[in-house]
Amino acid sequence: MDSILVRGNGELHGDIPIAGAKNACLTLMPATLLSDEPLTLTNAPRLSDIKTMTTLLQSLGAEVSSLQDGQVLAMSSHNINNHVADYDIVRKMRASILVLGPMLARYGHAVVSLPGGCAIGARPVDLHLKALEAMGAELELKDGYIHAKAPGGLKGGIVNFPLVSVGATENALMAATLAKGTTVLNNAAREPEIVDLAQCLRKMGAQIEGEGSSTITIQGVDRLNGATHPVVTDRIELGTYMLAPVFCGGEVTCLGGRMDLVAAFAEKLDEAGISVEETDKGLKVARRNGLIRAVDVTTAPFPGFPTDLQAQFMALMCIAEGTSKLEENIFENRFMHAPELIRMGADIEVHGGTATVTGVKQLKGAPVMATDLRASVSLILAGMAAEGETVVSRVYHLDRGYERVEEKLGAIGAHIERISGV
Ligand code: UD1
Repeated sequence: MDSILVRGNGELHGDIPIAGAKNACLTLMPATLLSDEPLTLTNAPRLSDIKTMTTLLQSLGAEVSSLQDGQVLAMSSHNINNHVADYDIVRKMRASILVLGPMLARYGHAVVSLPGGCAIGARPVDLHLKALEAMGAELELKDGYIHAKAPGGLKGGIVNFPLVSVGATENALMAATLAKGTTVLNNAAREPEIVDLAQCLRKMGAQIEGEGSSTITIQGVDRLNGATHPVVTDRIELGTYMLAPVFCGGEVTCLGGRMDLVAAFAEKLDEAGISVEETDKGLKVARRNGLIRAVDVTTAPFPGFPTDLQAQFMALMCIAEGTSKLEENIFENRFMHAPELIRMGADIEVHGGTATVTGVKQLKGAPVMATDLRASVSLILAGMAAEGETVVSRVYHLDRGYERVEEKLGAIGAHIERISGV
């Protein structure tokens, strides 16, 4: 298993290209199952999660070709010959559940293993299932698999989500495009990845209104066509790399970054004393001198502060002036990075869903362990600001969500290298 070695750093300068969004790509890929015509995604990120989704789609009979060094995914589902999403693939990644809605909508039946994914809480799929039931699906849970049927096809329905779920909104949205009649999704997720999915589905011929708001209305159509669609910029990779010059000093432009993707996060950076400038090229972040102020953060669905940037922000608060409170409202058990940061000299106390972080003058390098995707990158950022060497082990989590992290950070001056097989 690879590790990442980071040495405490001086200033960082330069440009970091931001990839297409992992989470958008993972929902756009299953959209291929909705049509027998080709769907091509450009600006795809090169990540192990994308490979897992490729394997899953191929196991169903879809053709998926990775072109232009992985940045283009050419897919076709004209020959789907298997309707079972197997445990061995699904367990690797929770987003596998996103094949359920499209398969059910197009073929009237699907069997999908209950998913795995990052160990950041219970993460049930009840909302996905309830939404599909509201569209007439008959579901049975048997031997760890969801057996779904819609004899005669899905029908439009009213879905009232009791809480905001990105994945359940995506599954329901895709399924509703081919359901008979009108579907209304109330309390829908508003994330940019949902907007991106709706835009792609519309190119395929779907009739959708209201994406980006809490109510999405879908008028089902008989069939969808092919399309070509660029994956939206990854706002989480963007937010993560925006922090690099904040930890180390210097000035970095995140190419392709847009303020509307990270507004709540940028507002917190501003409160902390770091200004972010939107330029033609992307988002420019600079820290020349001056202290970072401690600020409180509460995670919330978009447009709130993203849970996927909480670990990185906690790492920053470890070197801020004063005490901050970080409240995690989306996933329980999402402070697994805290004990690792403490190993690096951080002062953090966790009580339930709240972490109290008191800034220290200097973090110290240490061997630490990545416990989930975002936790791993927070430890790399902390290591860049620490004195001495930090070795982050179990970086397979990192490779699920950050393409070529050592190349991207290395190119702006970070002292970072991958150690193979440690
Ligand atoms: C997606 C993102 C993930 C991000 C999360 C929240 C992808 C591939 N992953 O995950 O990176 O952290 O949104 O922004 O896009 N819940 C239920 N029942 C369900 C579904 C969800 O109780 O059926 C709960 C979850 O446990 C969690 C909350 O709802 O507490 C939000 O989860 P959800 O928005 O569904 O997250 P994901 O789509 O899994």
